[in-house]
Amino acid sequence: MAKPPLSMKPTGWFQVAWSDEIAVGDVRTMKYFDQEMVAWRAESGRLTVMNAYCEHLGAHLGFGGTVKGEVLQCPFHGWQWNQQGRNVCIPYEDRPNRGRRITTYPVVERNESIYIWHDILGREPFFEAPDIFADFGDGKTAADYYPQQRLFRDSLEMHPQYVLENGVDFAHFKYVHNTPIVPKFTRHDFDDPVSYVDFTITFEGDDGQRIEDVGSGVEAINGGLGIAVTKSWGMVDNRTISAITPVDESTSDVRFMVYIGRPERDVRDPARAEAKAAEFGAEVIRQFSQDIHIWSHQRYSDPPALASSELEGFTAIRKWAMKFYPDGKGGSAADLAARREAMS
Ligand code: FES
Ligand SMILES: [Fe+2]
Repeated sequence: MAKPPLSMKPTGWFQVAWSDEIAVGDVRTMKYFDQEMVAWRAESGRLTVMNAYCEHLGAHLGFGGTVKGEVLQCPFHGWQWNQQGRNVCIPYEDRPNRGRRITTYPVVERNESIYIWHDILGREPFFEAPDIFADFGDGKTAADYYPQQRLFRDSLEMHPQYVLENGVDFAHFKYVHNTPIVPKFTRHDFDDPVSYVDFTITFEGDDGQRIEDVGSGVEAINGGLGIAVTKSWGMVDNRTISAITPVDESTSDVRFMVYIGRPERDVRDPARAEAKAAEFGAEVIRQFSQDIHIWSHQRYSDPPALASSELEGFTAIRKWAMKFYPDGKGGSAADLAARREAMS
């Protein structure tokens, strides 16, 4: 693919791991936003994500660093760093170095995922990472669902925004996901950093049906460019989280999670119900993989040749996406001009 003209350093919440991948005492090396980072879990269970290099002489804390209670100890000379990235102990001196600090990232753990806040301007989070249960406000919790099923694909040549643009791209469903008819969007709300998209969709029946008669659909909440959560209605009860995190200037890691609802009443054969749910989850993951196949070879089209029925949705989402590019690299001047024209 071509390197996207969009910045690979957008602002927002981005997934860097799943919670169960980092146990108490673990130190995990990772690279995101072109930075070497470490994530480590203190004895209390609290997780810290920070840049990887020790401020003393530059050892990489992911290679031999050890968790000591609530701090991380460097393997080179034993300096200890706390959860705010402050030096709290130099073992061969009376006092720590109070001046130097390792950059740490705001972290939240929810829905079994670890999200960090990334902002090249160093601003505090200005929106919340979405919660696949709480944010739909219907009282459902993880206990109403079977265990999360997952997909992880690393270092794909794609940009998080490609995934979000699926949220206005009604035409692709028929071709990529083989839906019998084109879905219909019923809500596009791109006013705030957390945006909302609803659509009516069916995977059943033939192409003779009318979308007005379809009784199923999807609600999506996009928490910036990094995380989108969805909830289905009128079909097998499923919820998904897609999370795309830039690794460097041209690649991203993709994580996708599916929850399938447990039966509301007692079923005669719980094992069979669970196997069916797992099968359905695998099918949802397969559908998402079909998107990935396109995205990971796509070239960002800027400005795109939109059909008139696509203009409104794409214009709205691309304008919304600009909120997350503090470096101004949210598309070319031509794209901006086209968007302005489309909006006037
Ligand atoms: S480089 Fe980390 S303690 Fe010296
Ligand atoms: Fe799709």
